[in-house]
This record gives sequence, C-alpha cells and structure tokens, in this order.
Amino acid sequence: MSTVEVNLSNIQEGQEKKVKWQGKPVLIRRRTKQEIDAARAANVESLRDPEPDEQRVYKGKNEWLIMIGICTHLGCVPVNHVTKDGNGWFCPCHGSYYDTSGRVIRGPAPKNMAIPNYFFLSENVVVIG
Ligand code: FES
Repeated sequence: MSTVEVNLSNIQEGQEKKVKWQGKPVLIRRRTKQEIDAARAANVESLRDPEPDEQRVYKGKNEWLIMIGICTHLGCVPVNHVTKDGNGWFCPCHGSYYDTSGRVIRGPAPKNMAIPNYFFLSENVVVIG
C-alpha cells in the first residue's frame, strides 16, 4: 500500500489542504477551537452514524481532522459549508450535510466521511496510509 507524506506547517487554523491518496481526495483540516468545541458538544447518540469526535482524530491532535473527502451516499466530493459552528461540508449531488467532524447530519448519506489510517511522523508531518 502506498503512503503519502504531508507537511502541515503551512496550514493555518481554519484552513485545509486537499491531497490525493490512492486516487482519493483526502481533506486535512486544521480546525478552529470553535469547530472542535462544536464537534465535542454534539449529541452523539442522535447522529445517524454515532461516532464521538475523539474517535475521529489523532489523540492529542484535536485540531487536525484528516478524512477521505468522499460523500458516503454515492461518492461525490463534498464542498466546504459555513455553519454557525464553523466549517462543515455539503454534498451538492443530493444534499448531504456533514458537521465539523465530518459526520453526516442531514441528507441521504448513510455514514460519516471515512477516516484513513495515518500517523504523525513528527510535530508537523503526517503520513497517510
Ligand atoms: Fe453526496 Fe448523494 S453523493 S448526497
């Protein structure tokens, strides 16, 4: 399996970078405190695909949300969507919405956007795959 090494040092808080891994778009977002707080405050049990934010991010690296940017409905690529909580995602194909943790909150998508395997090689370098 191939891996992709990404330097995170030029991604500011509230920004994201898209890289390709195994032909798939991977979104690397440096979340704001507001986005993290909103993700943590969500009522997990009420979600369609109940998954605590803590399980979707690397331990001790809460600001980094790294996920496969493919809608779990029929595979379109969601776009950024500004909400009262900060940035979420919207899939223009059939109207699925994802929260600041990439979890589905509305629309036909059955699952949250997937989290790939990755690890931090150093403070500012992540290896995906
Ligand atoms: Fe995203 Fe259908 S492919 S809502």
